[in-house]
Amino acid sequence: MAVRVTPIHGDFVARVTGVDLTRPLDDATFADVEAAFETFGVVVFPDQDIGDDQQIAFSERFGPLEPSVRRHRERAVANPLISDISNVGPDGGILAADSEAMSYNRGNQLWHSDSSFKRVPSKASLLSAREIPPAAGETEFADMRAAWEALAPEMQARIEGLVAEHSLAYSRATMGYDAGSTFFDVEKQEVPPVPQAMVRTSPVTGRKSLYVGSHASHIRGMDREAGRALLDTLLAHAAEDRFVHAHAWSVGDLVMWDNRCVNHRGRPWDAGKYRRIMRRTTVAGEAPTA
Ligand SMILES: [Fe+2]
Repeated sequence: MAVRVTPIHGDFVARVTGVDLTRPLDDATFADVEAAFETFGVVVFPDQDIGDDQQIAFSERFGPLEPSVRRHRERAVANPLISDISNVGPDGGILAADSEAMSYNRGNQLWHSDSSFKRVPSKASLLSAREIPPAAGETEFADMRAAWEALAPEMQARIEGLVAEHSLAYSRATMGYDAGSTFFDVEKQEVPPVPQAMVRTSPVTGRKSLYVGSHASHIRGMDREAGRALLDTLLAHAAEDRFVHAHAWSVGDLVMWDNRCVNHRGRPWDAGKYRRIMRRTTVAGEAPTA
């Protein structure tokens, strides 16, 4: 089989076919896949009937994986290297809308970059669709390189070198997350607020990107309200249609994205009626950004 990389949204999203991710890729094939990932930012692999262990093995080709921060919770999957992104409990039933897990999942509907609340934020995420609702539940991606490049030079000069503080507690609080829960306290201790550069440069392509999202609470060294206003302006800019690609899922899709230069958010669906089961692996980053 020969790898085929087909652009489906400019230089931002590509479909990659001619690969079977359930088997180990030879080095030449992997190099083609890795090049597509670094070039586009989002790559879609359709028709991958992949299991958890196979997804972990493919993901690990890109680097060591991050364990889920939710490992203290009751889990539908045993391996801490797999995150269960679903509305289904361990018994197979649909979770209640007011359950703690669903409240947490709603945080995924804000524009974010995965694990930007960690000192060393993630490099990439891989999400595989195991069961999907008949409608809605898309995932949207924002090209933060294009968003950066579209900013006026004066704005670029203003934000280059700025550092924002990111925390899970901040983003979850904006979603009305129950701050009184024991798990919340455990996580707050494990992931205290961290500094992140607001502009990043790809070590491979040299392209710069904006780096702001729902976990960013304020800008260090700037008046709190002024910093918040600047973050909101940049978030609204990056969410403009011209930078966004919506992925409508099919079962068997595996979508991989570059958290260093892509924001994403989940879109709602009728979660009280239809099961949606996704599995995520997360490739760890290499160094702090600030
Ligand atoms: Fe996410």
